[in-house]
Amino acid sequence: MKFFIDTANLSDIAEAQALGVLDGVTTNPSLMAKEGITGEANILAHYQNICDLVKGDVSAEVISTDFDGMVKEGEALAALHPQIVVKLPMIAAGVKACKYFSNKGIRTNVTLVFSAGQALLAAKAGATYVSPFLGRLDDISTDGLNLIAEIRLIYDNYGFETQILAASIRHTMHVIDCAKLGSDVMTGPLSSITGLLKHPLTDIGLAKFLEDYKKGNH
Ligand code: E4P
Repeated sequence: MKFFIDTANLSDIAEAQALGVLDGVTTNPSLMAKEGITGEANILAHYQNICDLVKGDVSAEVISTDFDGMVKEGEALAALHPQIVVKLPMIAAGVKACKYFSNKGIRTNVTLVFSAGQALLAAKAGATYVSPFLGRLDDISTDGLNLIAEIRLIYDNYGFETQILAASIRHTMHVIDCAKLGSDVMTGPLSSITGLLKHPLTDIGLAKFLEDYKKGNH
């Protein structure tokens, strides 16, 4: 299972990278705005900084909602760095642009996916990644994990190579449940990765080992 971090915060990205388990980064316009990154030039420069920090894929989202705009933006983003994956919204123009990029060998991440039907369309259009939004479904009392299971079943039935990128992950249990369901990738905040480290018995056990070591060395 690949671990992506869902942020535009460079220090969070660096911390996850330093842990040695980071496979990539996802961003979106809201995450960019949260870091105060605005304006096309600054956003492109920020993507470049993120690519310099990590070794894996970096999803960069288009803002256009029409096919021509998406193609123009996506081509510019893809040309920026080989690690860039063009992130496209799940709307008709996004599906069409996904097919266009797939034919050209440019990698894509189809985002804002909330149903199995949308995930099927993304796979048919040759998406590299599909991003079902787990947490946002849970937020409206709908079982986000069930969507991951449905997409896994459908993709396995037909051997679709599109990777399931479980997005809108909120906590460590989402990560574990997605791993059980065979999600290819998860993307979440730094806390959803570092939270996996924690267990009180590990801390208690380590303290006892160190205490006993000291005793034995007196
Ligand atoms: C996906 O790539 C999105 O950036 C993200 O996971 C959305 O998560 P949120 O629901 O926490 O905003």
